Amino acid sequence: MNLEDRSRLIAAALAVRHQAYAPYSNFRVGAALLAESGQIIAGCNVENASYGMTICAERTAAFAAVAQGHIRFQALALVTDGGALPCGACRQVLAEFCDDLPIWVVDIQHPEQVAEYTLNVLLPGRFML
Ligand code: THU
Repeated sequence: MNLEDRSRLIAAALAVRHQAYAPYSNFRVGAALLAESGQIIAGCNVENASYGMTICAERTAAFAAVAQGHIRFQALALVTDGGALPCGACRQVLAEFCDDLPIWVVDIQHPEQVAEYTLNVLLPGRFML
C-alpha cells in the first residue's frame, strides 16, 4: 500500500461525506473502499424517517462495490467529525469480503492525522457460516 493510494482513498471519503443524508442525526459519515483492482468506491450514510432503515456509510460503500463487481479490498477510509470507528454491523459486513483490512480513520477536525486500525483488531471472532 503506497501513500498515494492512502491519500486518494482518504480524499474520496472526505468528499463523499458531503453527500451524506443525515437530517436526523446531523452526523455525516464518508467511507471509501480501495478495491483490489485499485478502483475506489465511496459511500455515505443515508438516514430515514423510520430510523431503523438508516444505512451506514461503510455498508453503502460495500454494497455499491459489490454491485460494481468488487468483492476484494485493500483498505477502507472512514471520515467523521470526531474520528468514529465503524459500528459492529459494518464490521461484520466488511469481514464478509476480507480476511483482514486496514482501516484508516480520519477526524475532520484533524484531517492531517490518520489513525490506523485493522478489521481483525476491531472485530475478533467474526461470525462465519
Ligand atoms: N453511521 C455510519 O455511517 N457508520 C457507522 O459505522 C456508525 C454510524 C451513521 C448512521 C447514522 O446515520 C449516523 O451515523 C448516526 O448514527
